[in-house]
Amino acid sequence: MAETKQIVLGITGSIAAYKAALLARLLLQDPEEGLSVWPVLTASAQRFIGPLTFSAICGRPAVTDMWSAAEGGEIGHVEIAHRGDLFVIAPCTADTIARLAMGRANDPVGAVALATRAPILIAPAMETGMWENAATQRNLSLLEERGVAVVEPGCGPLASGREGPGRMAEPEVIAEEVRAALTSKDLAGRRVLVTGGPTREAFDPVRFISNHSSGKMGYAVARMARRRGADVCLVSGPVALAPLPGVELVRVGSTQEMLAACRARIAASDVLVMAAAPADYRPVHFSAAKIKKTGRPGGLDVGLEATPDILQSLAAHEQSCCVVGFAAETQDLLSNAQAKLEAKHLDLIVANDLTRPDSGFGVDTNAVIMIEKGGAVSELPVMSKERVATEILNRVAARLARRE
Ligand code: CTP
Repeated sequence: MAETKQIVLGITGSIAAYKAALLARLLLQDPEEGLSVWPVLTASAQRFIGPLTFSAICGRPAVTDMWSAAEGGEIGHVEIAHRGDLFVIAPCTADTIARLAMGRANDPVGAVALATRAPILIAPAMETGMWENAATQRNLSLLEERGVAVVEPGCGPLASGREGPGRMAEPEVIAEEVRAALTSKDLAGRRVLVTGGPTREAFDPVRFISNHSSGKMGYAVARMARRRGADVCLVSGPVALAPLPGVELVRVGSTQEMLAACRARIAASDVLVMAAAPADYRPVHFSAAKIKKTGRPGGLDVGLEATPDILQSLAAHEQSCCVVGFAAETQDLLSNAQAKLEAKHLDLIVANDLTRPDSGFGVDTNAVIMIEKGGAVSELPVMSKERVATEILNRVAARLARRE
């Protein structure tokens, strides 16, 4: 169980206030992560959403005015300001931004912002005109100069029915920024190259050979490395996952394309985590026209040849690059993984037993054994792919530190 982190969530008067309930829910979805959320609502926020919603989701009364604590002995804004590890204001209106810039404290959100020593993260939400107004931009710059982090609003339909910048970032994006803000930056200044997902080898314009990789493991490594301050590039095969905020995404199709993308970046990388499942074989011939069924009653023979092994091809990777590979096995897990660690010149291999239902392709969990160059072996219990990613990055960070 991780150490509990206290997040104070300020909600101000915008229609996007309903999304703050989703944000609170997302932050609390994994009890083992150890996050607590303390909701604070302005009077205007309460015209859009009731405090009861937040009390129910967060499991504690919401602070709704400056006086409730004094009257009822509840925990009020000053106490919360001191308790928080992070103060998030989502949605944050143009008026709130202006008042924060001035240091006004006549509502509970402004008072917490002024009293807290914790970092502040705001997710603005407003009409395009207000967002683009020089006054708002000036106020925002002032806040940024004081260290306030801003989750930029996106473009999209606004409450007015118009479209444009000003729409609050999606709760998933804000939740990721909150987690990043709470994570210590032990990989700051490191460049991490991650691959994820399958590759596809086409034999005509509509058909291809591939595998069941979902990309979840590679995306988890990229997300966690970025949270720890690394500069992350994710080379991704075709997957159904959303791009990650703050991570450079390079989309590729075939194993050859994945190899080219990695080759172009390996020299500038401190770490390579090869979590992708590149197709090992490709059709010898590609037919530019769709291969017709008619006239083939006996079926279709597709001749296959080996694709390049990306890790092997990068074997000459810079000595300074810490290289992590995976071993997806259905038998002889340890001996096969050990052999791949040596053959592919890896610093660490993450061995995955594909016969377990809670591990490997498609699922959100993994049960892995990690073998490090030098002999250290650790068998980890079933855990989320994000936690496996953390375990991998802990070992990577330690190896990088030892090299210095
Ligand atoms: N890998 C690679 N290039 C390939 C195939 C795999 O770089 N063409 C990488 C994978 O990303 C993984 C490691 O090599 O990090 C091991 O992949 P795995 O599929 O377990 O094994 P293979 O090397 O393909 O061998 P086998 O299929 O015989 O198990």
